[in-house]
Amino acid sequence: MLAHGATDLDRLGELVNSPAQQRAWAIVEPLLAELRAADIVLIGTPMYNYSIPAGLKAWLDQITFPRMSLAPTRFVVASARGGAYSPGTPKAIYDYQERYLRDFFAGHFAVEDTVFVHSELVNSRQDPALAHLRDKHDASHAAALATARTLGKEY
Ligand SMILES: Cc1cc2nc3c(=O)[nH]c(=O)nc-3n(C[C@H](O)[C@H](O)[C@H](O)COP(=O)(O)O)c2cc1C
Repeated sequence: MLAHGATDLDRLGELVNSPAQQRAWAIVEPLLAELRAADIVLIGTPMYNYSIPAGLKAWLDQITFPRMSLAPTRFVVASARGGAYSPGTPKAIYDYQERYLRDFFAGHFAVEDTVFVHSELVNSRQDPALAHLRDKHDASHAAALATARTLGKEY
């Protein structure tokens, strides 16, 4: 598509020729249409290995095209993580989940103001070694729910 100078999302379908392209477009087109029709995109995701799960990455790979802009669509990411990565925590520098999504949405979608809502330390619910952090998880979870409710009213 770059070779054809085709970056107009409304005209991507014109580049679909071969049966393989038709099969791929049959998957991509409805995903892209759904995304472009949205006023608000709400993504629920866990942190996996300091980053995002493969399913979310696969979705991004399908719906991302060169020089596209989704502004002024609002993006909200609600995430759960086993540990704690908030600013000031020892593992904050390993938070490639928020950093990746924030930078990706800004760089590829021209959406600069993605809002993140994290429930942290969820593993303390199950892991006896983290049981002493359960209070911190409860506080993080309650704060996330409160933020979600506020966003729900504002948006
Ligand atoms: C494959 C895998 C990788 C994970 N990696 C991390 C991680 O790097 N950091 C973290 O804090 N939690 C991690 N977790 C914990 C999850 O973020 C947490 O349990 C989350 O609630 C899982 O949501 P799910 O049950 O919908 O998959 C991981 C969990 C799984 C299954």
